Amino acid sequence: MPSVMICSLVTVVAAGIVGYARLPPASARAGNCEAVEQREPLRGKADRAGILIGTAVRPGQLSEAAYAATLAREYNLVEPEDALKWEVLHPRRDLFDFSDADRILSFARLHGIKVRGHTLVWTHQNPPWLVNNRFSEAELLSILHEHISKVMEHYRGRIFAWDVVNEAVDETGNLRSSLWYDQPGIGLAQKGTAYIEQALRWAREADPDALLFYNDGGGEVVNRKSDAVYSMLIDFRRRNIPIDGVGLQMHLGLDADVTSIARNIQRFSDAGFQVHITEADVAVAVDHNRRILDPGDLDRQSRIYEAVLSACLSQRRCTVFQTWGFTDKYSWINSTSRGIKGAALFFDAQYRPKPAYTAAQRVLSRAVNCR
Ligand code: XIL
Repeated sequence: MPSVMICSLVTVVAAGIVGYARLPPASARAGNCEAVEQREPLRGKADRAGILIGTAVRPGQLSEAAYAATLAREYNLVEPEDALKWEVLHPRRDLFDFSDADRILSFARLHGIKVRGHTLVWTHQNPPWLVNNRFSEAELLSILHEHISKVMEHYRGRIFAWDVVNEAVDETGNLRSSLWYDQPGIGLAQKGTAYIEQALRWAREADPDALLFYNDGGGEVVNRKSDAVYSMLIDFRRRNIPIDGVGLQMHLGLDADVTSIARNIQRFSDAGFQVHITEADVAVAVDHNRRILDPGDLDRQSRIYEAVLSACLSQRRCTVFQTWGFTDKYSWINSTSRGIKGAALFFDAQYRPKPAYTAAQRVLSRAVNCR
């Protein structure tokens, strides 16, 4: 008797598995796209939609209860906003200070959150010892090699993707002058993208499992800058230079051309590159108390977030949607706009969700069953 029962149970289970295996893939099932509970936090939906939903974070704010709770509840990805930049991480030539970034990584580990790295080669936020010392090209070459190796080895297995090079291309599509390129550079000035290639090779050596990105802003739409970045990445792949994808910063205003942004995401994805939206925010006009001047801007802002997140979710290789902070209490927009813009993120200064947040929930809910 018991053996018959076991046998029939096995049959039922096996039939169930066969039945399940014959179902069409989730993306092909029609009419089921809205079936997900909309009020669930973003990260659960993002997990099931196959995308990472991220935010830049600052270590000092992790001790604020509402900041930490919102972050842990909503996000499955974080990126240190400044803590992995040279001026913080490498304050003296002979000193690496991982403490700020390590605090963020501990928080991430505790809450099952992935981490993106930003950034190894950039002309800004470098420490005075590096900028003011008039190093020779040969010295800079060895300083950069050491930095990339030490930092990536320290975080090996814990940071899954790196912005190896940030903002190397100008608005006309030419290479910007920079410490690493030609002021004085690492010995590859006037050799086009050779210094970027060198950095990518060192990065691959330091952590062969990390995904390597070129990250920039101003090339979100199809324009001269994004054309140049696109050609550079195609050229790198043709010559076996290690590169996995492009980071599109996505610092936007209410005038963003979302159709062109969608076309740009699509062309990188179609060419086989991963696309990470790395620093999204949508700035609106505010008064000197940081209050929104026109309340209608909140809906306009939510429609831009909705369009960009939808464009990302519609491309298989767009795998990260990250904002540059999550609460309007802390956002670089206020300082960079000298107080005239702000309110650019998903949560207001009291951590209340804004229409942009609800739009992201809606888009992710649809994507769970339709991506
Ligand atoms: C910004 C940070 O948000 C600020 O805290 C810091 O003072 C300046 O840098 N593009 C980038 C980011 O790649 O690193 C910048 O972050 C914003 C623009």
